[in-house]
Amino acid sequence: MIIRPRRLRSTPAMRRLVAENRTHPSQLILPMFVREGLSEAVPISSMPGVQQHSLDSMRRAIAGAAELGVGGVMLFGVPERKDAEGSGAIDPNGILNVATRAAVAEAGDALVVQTDLCLDEFTDHGHCGVLRERTHPVTGATELTVDNDASLERYREMGVAQAEAGSQLLGLSGMMDGQVAAVRDALDAAGHTDTPLLGYAAKYASAFYGPFREAVQSSLEGDRRAYQQNPANRREGIREVELDIDEGADIVMVKPAMSFLDVLADAAAISSVPVWAYQVSGEYAMIEAAAAHGWIDRRRAIEESVLSIQRAGADAVLTYYATELAEWLRR
Ligand code: PBG
Repeated sequence: MIIRPRRLRSTPAMRRLVAENRTHPSQLILPMFVREGLSEAVPISSMPGVQQHSLDSMRRAIAGAAELGVGGVMLFGVPERKDAEGSGAIDPNGILNVATRAAVAEAGDALVVQTDLCLDEFTDHGHCGVLRERTHPVTGATELTVDNDASLERYREMGVAQAEAGSQLLGLSGMMDGQVAAVRDALDAAGHTDTPLLGYAAKYASAFYGPFREAVQSSLEGDRRAYQQNPANRREGIREVELDIDEGADIVMVKPAMSFLDVLADAAAISSVPVWAYQVSGEYAMIEAAAAHGWIDRRRAIEESVLSIQRAGADAVLTYYATELAEWLRR
């Protein structure tokens, strides 16, 4: 036998030397939930270890993440009152915009403060856009549907409000057609030509967003299959990535991560802009639940899951483990 792959696996130092990928804190982004009216953080039961933050606890968590070299935070707002139009998203005094200003003041230039640009946290029906009645094309029944172009109008206003609050990267996660072009145009018209856009280009209608619904207290009934992608489709992921890049996305995202690593690898192969991936709430919950039972080694599972996402082609990873991983990496 001439070829023995085990030669390069023989010692820790050798294994480290030949590692093809490694995780660095600067490539990790921490998603955070900030809830209006809280005086202290509240745990999210389906995501043990993750909290709905008050403004104060958010500031402390951002300071801690920055200290460890985490690359960025992605803020989600949980408003006290929701309405059909999601008006809290546009209000400069809405929780997400208030939290953004506080986050930027806390973080300075230590990390990149990013915001989720989608209406679902702000609408009382829980959909990512505004609704209108339509006649079902086959049955003729009257039903509600998410109005793509009316939603774009709201996204434009939301984008300008976020840029004005100081967000350094807007994460367009609503899956409306044309959302990147619409928000780019609105930002440019308002003078925010230098605010970059992260297109959640390939975003699938996934069961793994389950715990997120609790985190943002979503009242969604039904599902998002009329705007998010069908998990059966791989080629369509490339189309969505190409469209977002053509519309001006500065970065594109694949989401969820672990059940769409093939789509991520495809995106990484064709993209001319950075490609990120989001290890979502259900991925987190699965690891936590199995680890709590003693069925998997928690730390190894976390490290392996994030490495697998990098190996598939992600330049950075949104993960609820960002700060904890950064802490392990520092030692
Ligand atoms: C939409 C949005 C969702 C998530 C991030 N942005 C929910 C959805 O699309 O249903 C899910 C993130 C997670 O599950 O961790 N605003």
